[in-house]
Amino acid sequence: MRIIKLDAIDSTNSFLKEMIYSEAITDYTIVVTEHQTNGRGQMGTTWDSKRGKNLMFSMFKDLSIHVVEFPFYISMAVSLAILKALKALNIPQVSIKWPNDILSADKKICGILIENVIKNKLNSTIIGIGINVNQTEFDNLPQASSLKNITGVHYNLDEILHRIVKHTKAYSKLLQDGKYNAVKNEYEANLFRKNKPSTFRNAEGDLFSGFIIGVTKYGKLQVLLEDEIVKKFDLKEITLMY
Ligand code: BTN
Repeated sequence: MRIIKLDAIDSTNSFLKEMIYSEAITDYTIVVTEHQTNGRGQMGTTWDSKRGKNLMFSMFKDLSIHVVEFPFYISMAVSLAILKALKALNIPQVSIKWPNDILSADKKICGILIENVIKNKLNSTIIGIGINVNQTEFDNLPQASSLKNITGVHYNLDEILHRIVKHTKAYSKLLQDGKYNAVKNEYEANLFRKNKPSTFRNAEGDLFSGFIIGVTKYGKLQVLLEDEIVKKFDLKEITLMY
């Protein structure tokens, strides 16, 4: 495992992506930084973080050595690895808000940005993780919190990084061994608001009710609607409100 520590960079995902094209790179090459000037989130959003307070890193994983039929399994494995690391640190009520936000006590404490790339015709992936660790103020972000805000404890960023990498390797091994269902079942068991009456907003802005019952292997959210019909939604089609 190679760890590249940077003081500041635009985005660790972008840095690692550039690196892939310029040199040979091995699994679990990690880029971690104190500060990002252009941190990127899902669906074109930005990821802001106060300098030196939080964990921001990206790791490289070659997917060609074991065929992962459905990329969403990587996303599930990474979410579970983070969850396991946080549970071991006694962070309370951790869950996965579909598809891959990590919550504690209903607040977002971690975001994941997975970007698949093709290098020399081999599929590989860049797994970017941002965890709010020791930052205590979140201006204009009422849904965000940090580990320190939740527990009052100041955490060592390196220790959390190493725990997450260790668990990511273990969940990757499960996929490598074909234990797809084990990963999917564990992911679904840890889904935020699973089997609870919930309200959603569709792409047209209309609200509707239903129960999250699981996900498909393609990563769509399965919702049981009031008329007993199960519908599948992708990320652009649905927002979980409460
Ligand atoms: C999200 O919740 O929208 C995903 C946020 C992902 C943020 C991390 S921070 C490290 C890595 N580099 C980036 O530019 N983004 C990811």
